[in-house]
Amino acid sequence: MTHATIQAQIDAAKAYEDLMVPALFGEWGPVVADAAHIQTGQRVLDVACGTGVLARGVLSRTGKAEFVTGLDPNAGMLEVARQLAPGVEWQQGLAESLPFPDATFDVVVSQFGLMFFHDRSEAIREALRVLKPGGRMAFAVWDSLENIPAYADAVALLERLAGAPAANAVRAPFVLGDRRDLEMLFAGAGFKSVEVATRKGVARFPSVRVMVEADLRGWLPVLGVVLTEEQIEGILQAAEHALQQYVSSDGAASFATSAHIVTGMKP
Ligand SMILES: C[S@@+](CC[C@H](N)C(=O)[O-])C[C@H]1O[C@@H](n2cnc3c(N)ncnc32)[C@H](O)[C@@H]1O
Repeated sequence: MTHATIQAQIDAAKAYEDLMVPALFGEWGPVVADAAHIQTGQRVLDVACGTGVLARGVLSRTGKAEFVTGLDPNAGMLEVARQLAPGVEWQQGLAESLPFPDATFDVVVSQFGLMFFHDRSEAIREALRVLKPGGRMAFAVWDSLENIPAYADAVALLERLAGAPAANAVRAPFVLGDRRDLEMLFAGAGFKSVEVATRKGVARFPSVRVMVEADLRGWLPVLGVVLTEEQIEGILQAAEHALQQYVSSDGAASFATSAHIVTGMKP
C-alpha cells in the first residue's frame, strides 16, 4: 500500500471518528459492553473495531489495556485507534481469519461490522473458535432501513444525486435487520443461548449538513466511493431540504435509530 493510500485511509478514519462516532456509534459501546457482561480482568476481543470506540469502553471495565484487543483490516482506522488508546493491542486482520489461537478470549464483542464481512458465517465461527469454553459474545447490527427513516431518506437522496454505488454504501449497514435470520446465523455457527434484543437509540448530528457530510467524507471513502467536491456540495445543499423534518429547534439533526444486540455463549 502506498504512503498516499494509507494517508487517505487515516484522513477518512479521522473524519469517521470526529463526525460519525459522537453522533451515531458512541452510545452503543456501553450497550454492547453491558450485554457482554464484561468483568474485571477478562480478555476481550473487539472485532471490526474501527477507531476503537467499543474497545475503549471495554477497557474501562476490564481494567487493563493489555486485556483488550481491537481488530480491523483498515490501517487508517487502526492508526486513529492507536492514537486514542495506545495501550490496547490493535491488530490488523479480518474477522473471517482471526490471527489468534483457539480459546484466547473470555469475551468477543463487535458493533456495526458484521454486515460488511464477506463471509459472515465464517466470521462467527472464528469468533466461536477464539472464545474460551463458556465465553460470551455480543454483536450489534443496525435494524432494517425502514425502521430508521432518516437514513432511508438519505439513501433516496443519494440514489437520485450520486447514483447506486453511493446509495448502496449508505444502505449497506442496514441489511441485517431480520431478527430471525440473525438468530439462525449465530446458532447455526454453534453458539448456544442465542438471544436478539432490539434497542432504540437516538442519533444527534450538529446539523443535516454534518450528518450527510459524515457519510460523504467519513463513510463512503471507507467503502471506496469517492465523490467530487462539486457532487458533495450539490448533495449537501439538497439534503437541507430533503431531510428538513429531522431538524430540531436548535438546528441539530436528531432522529431515532434502532439496533439488534445478539448475545450468546460458547458451549
Ligand atoms: C461502521 S464501522 C464500525 C466500527 C466500530 N465498531 C464502531 O462502532 O465505530 C465498520 C468496520 O468494519 C470493518 N470491517 C469491514 N470488513 C471487515 C472484515 N472482513 N473483518 C473485520 N472488520 C471489517 C471496517 O474496516 C470498519 O472499521
